[in-house]
Amino acid sequence: MKRISTVFGKSHQYYKQLGKQYSNGAFLPGCEFTPSTYKGASYEAIVKSRECLVMATQKPFYKKPVLLHEGRAQWLWDHEGRRYLDMFGGIATVSVGHCHPKVVTALSEQSYKLGHTTAIYYHPRYHEYAEKLTSTLPSELKCVYLTNSGSEATELAIQLARLYTGRTQIVALKNCYHGGTGIAAATTAMACYKYPLPTLPGHIHVTNPDVYLGPWGGSNCRDSPVQPGNRRCDCLPNKCEAEDKYFEEFQSIYKSLIPFDGKIAAFTAESIQGVGGTVQYPRGYLKRVYEQVRKAGGLCIADEVQTGFGRTGEHFWGFEGHGVRPDIVVMAKGIGNGYPLGAVVTTLPVAQALSKALYFNTFGGNPVGCAVGSAVLDVIEEENLQENARIVGTRIIEALAELQGEFPDVVGDVRGKGLMIGVELVADAETREPLPADQVAQIFEDIKDAGVLIGKGGVNGNVFRIKPPLCVTKEDGEYTVDALRSALKKHRESRRF
Ligand SMILES: Cc1ncc(COP(=O)(O)O)c(C=O)c1O
Repeated sequence: MKRISTVFGKSHQYYKQLGKQYSNGAFLPGCEFTPSTYKGASYEAIVKSRECLVMATQKPFYKKPVLLHEGRAQWLWDHEGRRYLDMFGGIATVSVGHCHPKVVTALSEQSYKLGHTTAIYYHPRYHEYAEKLTSTLPSELKCVYLTNSGSEATELAIQLARLYTGRTQIVALKNCYHGGTGIAAATTAMACYKYPLPTLPGHIHVTNPDVYLGPWGGSNCRDSPVQPGNRRCDCLPNKCEAEDKYFEEFQSIYKSLIPFDGKIAAFTAESIQGVGGTVQYPRGYLKRVYEQVRKAGGLCIADEVQTGFGRTGEHFWGFEGHGVRPDIVVMAKGIGNGYPLGAVVTTLPVAQALSKALYFNTFGGNPVGCAVGSAVLDVIEEENLQENARIVGTRIIEALAELQGEFPDVVGDVRGKGLMIGVELVADAETREPLPADQVAQIFEDIKDAGVLIGKGGVNGNVFRIKPPLCVTKEDGEYTVDALRSALKKHRESRRF
């Protein structure tokens, strides 16, 4: 039996379990569930049909893509019965665990009663759910619109802000991701999600306050157990020069890009950038930006699509970690544990701005979606998942920081909060030049072959993203860090030749 690591200080009876030994010579932590035998199309048939039936923009993650078949909690099984530890949660979406029995029961019971109706009729599930959802938010945020997705929620939030303020300009951060449809795509600022097509006007993007890659950052900037490793500063704990500098950058748009009267419709930001590579801003940055925007009557939108529902551990909502109160909150992903559901929540006066005409969607807020959303909130509370995210996430981040110490030439940065974690791989720790894509891809593949699925992102595609279901254990975290360690060792050895 291979000893994994000492970080969590646990014995490894977990590894004396059923199942296969993985490519790193270890066993995955135990799991009592036995999946059914896969009886679907062959792997080869799926590869073929993918080539002609599915648009090529939907790219699989791996050189040898995984064909998933069944899931339970933090576990996934492929067509050959191979078990994976899901440390990406379907892109931060599976919040309470795959096929959680309470969620599945709520879904099926509601499906038997009434599967579909829209806002043209009343149904009790919407009201029960809206009440439960808003009880997690500051009291003024009490008006809910349920959507089909995060992109739709972004669209709606921006339309609300524009209608309410009578302004059009939306300010967002470079390196943000807010969705792939019209307005959301124009708000998004990552080149790999942009086509050479005209985008909608009315969007301004400001310097990203990225304390690792950006021009400013030091040893006490971000709200994480780990600070940017190779950046030092002389700032006092409550005086962050990087925060001042990035805020000056924000203010500079008032001299160049914002109309002469300084008025905009809204500022929007993720509480921690997700697709952009788990980027965290200096602690006080959002607070100062919110104050500045509000001075001129603009609204502040918090995109909680990835950071909401307890993922950051310390708080239920990511914006709480910045000490701000948004006017509009955008939600999706973890809200439905994989069921297509999103939401916009705002104040009554802002919501009124939408009532001058009709905004209608067919599926958003159907009874099944509401039953699912409601069950997800119950499970987060009953199973103490926010606290689990804090404890397990912190342990993983600390263990990854140790790993950075072992591989300082490749692991440029470890960051994040709770179970929203990033590991940036570099070719040169001093210049922070990204590790070339083929090397990142090989390490990524080796982690998968060790039985762990993680994500990848960032502007250079060199940030590993760890955002598992909130039910993962310390042992799962330990196994994940060890899988990264094995893959990095292999990478180091491959460079010797
Ligand atoms: C922060 C953020 N906002 C919005 C979206 C768009 O959500 P969806 O893919 O459900 O349209 C995403 C999706 O990744 C996201 O990460």
